[in-house]
Amino acid sequence: MKVTISRKAHFNAAHRLYRPDWSFEKNDAIFGKCNNPNFHGHNYDLTVSVTGEIDPETGYVMDVKILKDFIKSEVEDAFDHKNLNLDVPEFKDLNPTAENIVVVIYDKLKAVLESNLDLEVTLYETPRNFVTYSGN
Ligand code: NI
Repeated sequence: MKVTISRKAHFNAAHRLYRPDWSFEKNDAIFGKCNNPNFHGHNYDLTVSVTGEIDPETGYVMDVKILKDFIKSEVEDAFDHKNLNLDVPEFKDLNPTAENIVVVIYDKLKAVLESNLDLEVTLYETPRNFVTYSGN
């Protein structure tokens, strides 16, 4: 019997979408306003879902307090009030699109979770635009 537990989280961050190997014109055509050289910010919202068997002793899939602490250390402390392009090493050579951000978050959380737990991360860049990754 597998159950999914979820925790919501939030961070603010700035980014610029561009490829340094493309001209400004091509970056502008592909990324539009997100190619603003002075960066721009988003209020990112996050849902982290962990699926696993209920531990018969505790009745938990995992302690949600531990999940909360993992999200704080791996995501909020790493990304909140940061410039993703300049401050976060994972995006030094990786365009910080919502798609790439959700994969980075997934990989960081997967590395600290018990290996028998399945993970899915949904990242909202705006209330209407969101991406989901579950390791596939
Ligand atoms: Ni943006």
